[in-house]
Amino acid sequence: MIGSVYYADEVIEEVMSRNDIVDIISNYVNLKKKGNTYSACCPFHHEKTPSFHVSREKQMYHCFGCGVGGNVYTFMMEHENFSFPEAVEALAQRAGISLPEQSMTPEAKKQADIRNTIKDMNKLAAGYFHFLLKGEHGNLAMEYLKQRGLSDETINAFGLGYSDKYSDDLYKYLKSKGYQDDQLKESGLVKFDEKYGGSDRFWNRVMFPIVDVNNRVIGFGGRVMGDAKPKYINTQDTPVFDKSRNLYGLNLAKKSKRQGIIFCEGYMDVISMHQAGFDNAVASLGTALTTGQVNLIKRFTNQVYLAYDSDEAGTKAALRALEIMREFEMPARVISLKPYKDPDELIQAEGTEAFEKRIEQAQSGIMFEIHILEQQYHLEDPQERTLFQKEAAKRLALIMEPLERANYVESVAQVYKIDANNLKEMVTQYGVSAMNRVDNRVFRDQQPYVSKEEKKANNLLKAERLLITWLINENRLFDILKNVVEPKDFYEPVYHDIVEALFAQYEAEKKVNPAVILNRYQSKEEHDKVSAIMQQDFDMAISQEEKSKAITDLVKSIKRRSMEHRLEEAKGDLLKTSQLMIEKSKIDKLIIRI
Ligand code: UTP
Ligand code: MN
Repeated sequence: MIGSVYYADEVIEEVMSRNDIVDIISNYVNLKKKGNTYSACCPFHHEKTPSFHVSREKQMYHCFGCGVGGNVYTFMMEHENFSFPEAVEALAQRAGISLPEQSMTPEAKKQADIRNTIKDMNKLAAGYFHFLLKGEHGNLAMEYLKQRGLSDETINAFGLGYSDKYSDDLYKYLKSKGYQDDQLKESGLVKFDEKYGGSDRFWNRVMFPIVDVNNRVIGFGGRVMGDAKPKYINTQDTPVFDKSRNLYGLNLAKKSKRQGIIFCEGYMDVISMHQAGFDNAVASLGTALTTGQVNLIKRFTNQVYLAYDSDEAGTKAALRALEIMREFEMPARVISLKPYKDPDELIQAEGTEAFEKRIEQAQSGIMFEIHILEQQYHLEDPQERTLFQKEAAKRLALIMEPLERANYVESVAQVYKIDANNLKEMVTQYGVSAMNRVDNRVFRDQQPYVSKEEKKANNLLKAERLLITWLINENRLFDILKNVVEPKDFYEPVYHDIVEALFAQYEAEKKVNPAVILNRYQSKEEHDKVSAIMQQDFDMAISQEEKSKAITDLVKSIKRRSMEHRLEEAKGDLLKTSQLMIEKSKIDKLIIRI
């Protein structure tokens, strides 16, 4: 249970009750009021018509488009990339509630402490490296950065630094600040050797602090000042440094007024671009682009530019990045840097305006892919030309929007001198299979063939789900159904738990608070699933009679299933079996009036 891991349930509920979900989400999303709910375009996936709903009454949100959902904590975790305790802390602070420290379990507290300690150490180290750079020891490093064209302002904005040439300089410094060996080891800043003791991971390097979206130093990159290898070393994974979920420069880029986000490969590229005014540039942390990183930027932009190196490795990386962007339906364009190797070199050689032009001329992802594809074929050869055209058609078929697809078909036909009608026909052919793929993704649980048993089981699950929705929407039902259905009648374990919690809440307070129940669940999948049920609204315009009939039907099918199950369990126990048979026979006559 997530709620009891770090803070007591009462604390979690108190913080929640003082942060209205509509207020919180309004800070990030432009909500429009519609009846009892508020809606907007979903901040978690790309869409043009709003399917993201927030309910003040239930203190929950749910997107009918992509299926995400949850309460105010889930929202902060998803949107700010917070851990659960971080979300509690942020919202407590916002509401002016001071959190009792002792309410953490010892193990949880230790974990939270380690993370905080590492962040503190990183901050101290970054300050120390920066101080060294500015002092006498940093002369060579400063010279190096100047020679690479960086201004003092840029050096300060990125907090660049220098790690001294003594291999235990930082170790000694942090020891003098009171940190213990085991803490230093966890931070990744110091390595330990049985014979030689502690030594610095980074020494005699130009230091690039890596700062997360919330402005905390989570790690470092360090570059040699000459041609030695390895050119860069980075902090290894630590409890606060996750290379796949952070981006270099995003703390600054998220505030940029420029359109879109520019992805590049190197730290120096990011810095160079920011200095030239392209303060929307970010880079991965020494690895290929990950889905976690795209997830991270989704909330800041809906247009990506790739400014990857112009060599073969860079092109490969760009193609892979485009695949990921497509998965996220994130429009991407590719900036050509030729004949230069990377954005830094282009800017150093030709300046800001030239780069601005390159952005304007950036090719759409699909045109870039087809352009790269073309280079693999000898187009003079009819057979190879056919193969190329087929491959190109396959790519074009991946474009879901019909108008957009038609436009690209036209462009490709023109650029590569293919008959437009032929190409269109090929694309349509490939499109049919592409459509099926997308359908499978969107309607994940709609199997092409479902057996009778499965169908029955699905219908029962649906009945359980619907009855929960009714209970939440019509609280009177708790009194009406009190002696008719019990939590144990619910077959699906998650639903059983929810109903139990709802009944308990109603018993205690004569009302329910579905958002609180969500705190029991840990994973995003569970949150999405549970909030989908609780957020469902009914068309309340139906008559009382129709309502009564609907609920009676639901209760009957749930009870029948439950009785069958209990009879199965009671096999051999004649007394129990006969009691259950009597109970079961009553189900048919059941009539619920609301
Ligand atoms: P590049 O080799 O393209 O470096 O590596 P760069 O940014 O152009 O560096 P300069 O201009 O020579 O200073 C791109 C990125 O790959 C990672 C770093 O994150 C670097 O910024 N990298 C590269 C490493 O982690 N280790 C290496 O040895 C090299
Ligand atoms: Mn470079």
